[in-house]
Amino acid sequence: MAKLANKRLIRYVCQTCGAEAPKWAGQCADCGAWNTLVETVGDHATPDRRAAIAGETRIERLHEVETEDAPRVASGLPEMDRVLGGGIVPGAVILIGGDPGIGKSTLLLQVLAALEGRLDTLYVTGEESLSQVRLRASRLGLPRLDLPVLAETGVERILDQLTRHKPGLVVIDSIQTLYTDALDSAPGSVSQLRECAARLVRHAKASGTAVILVGHVTKEGAIAGPRVLEHMVDTVLYFEHDAGSRFRIVRAVKNRFGAVNELGVFAMTDAGLKEVSNPSALFLSRHDQPVPGSVITVTRQGSRPLLVEVQALVDASLGGSPRRVTLGLESNRLNMLLAVLHRHGGISLADQDVFANVVGGMRIQEPAADLPLLLAALSSFRGKPVANNTVVFGEVGLAGEIRPVQNGEERLQEAAKHGFKRAIIPESNRPRKAAKLDIEIVAVARIDQALIEAL
Ligand code: TYD
Ligand code: MG
Repeated sequence: MAKLANKRLIRYVCQTCGAEAPKWAGQCADCGAWNTLVETVGDHATPDRRAAIAGETRIERLHEVETEDAPRVASGLPEMDRVLGGGIVPGAVILIGGDPGIGKSTLLLQVLAALEGRLDTLYVTGEESLSQVRLRASRLGLPRLDLPVLAETGVERILDQLTRHKPGLVVIDSIQTLYTDALDSAPGSVSQLRECAARLVRHAKASGTAVILVGHVTKEGAIAGPRVLEHMVDTVLYFEHDAGSRFRIVRAVKNRFGAVNELGVFAMTDAGLKEVSNPSALFLSRHDQPVPGSVITVTRQGSRPLLVEVQALVDASLGGSPRRVTLGLESNRLNMLLAVLHRHGGISLADQDVFANVVGGMRIQEPAADLPLLLAALSSFRGKPVANNTVVFGEVGLAGEIRPVQNGEERLQEAAKHGFKRAIIPESNRPRKAAKLDIEIVAVARIDQALIEAL
């Protein structure tokens, strides 16, 4: 009976034009798009919504709005707190995504263990049995962990437990296994994902319970994956790693309570994830001899500078259009830089394949990596190394100018700290009090100057 009553609330909404239909169809009757109808619960009819509409709404003055000075709870893992922007905020909803097997469950179990005694928590597992969770805890050296655990996938029953026990933090492992009785579609489908997440978010905001949602992402970023949830949550963290490497990078790609692009670095060991508190040297391959195609740069990830190695391989293309392949860098950026190199440096790589990579599975999205990438490509092309005691950073403009980057001085300090002797940097980033830094500064304003200085 309950199911029948629920059925009446189901609508099919076109994801392109927003038109509603009472029945599923392959084509939207309104806009004519194919395969865009997605099952949703008619929100206007849910009891919460009705209650909200019945209540009075009132416009307030901003300065009169009461702020709850809810303190953050530090997770006890400093690298995790760094990506979260200082700790767990009550009522916050955090999505943590990554490939299957990368270490999401391991990390969260460690976070919950570290919080023991300071915050009431609940671990909800939909993927593994309770005995598997127990085995993992023993493996992590937490045999006597007094952690409340629940094996459940029905979101109504989970919410029921949350209302009853009011934990400060609940981990849902994973959101793809949850389902609501109100929808007929299978767990993991877009409509189930959205509806289950929406109910948990509503509960978090109403009760102050912080929620961590685990989501699997496939290599392609999975259409029906947790990406559809990004806008609903406060914080989105993604695991990154290099195939075969034991290092795991957790990156904040969205954070309403802290800086984005902040990184936490961990190493997977026999006893779970260990924090790497000084990761700068991790992303260098430390060649004994300078090698062509390798340039060290200082990138800034969130609030910390990191030394990373940019590598390029330039090789004669075997007919057809030459290949431009990048790992950890944007391929559009590479194409643009090669055009600048041709126009303003007079060097054409039009008949060459160019492969570029960032060592250690790091991803760089800031333009400060322009100049190092360009120099790495040219260094490989000419078979001439850039000195391995040199760091390079700078944005390359379309007019061939080298543009400044943010936090230049901090980057120079990081390079000097790790024993680098020379830095090729944008003219506008030249530090005012150069004497204080134990590193030779080569400031360049144009691309041709940079080529002469580096190679
Ligand atoms: P897991 O946390 O289950 O990944 P996810 O939840 O993201 O799917 O991690 C599983 C991997 O981690 C698995 O391949 C084994 C490895 N691992 C270790 O190397 N050491 C450990 O102590 C643990 C618990 C797991
Ligand atoms: Mg898991």
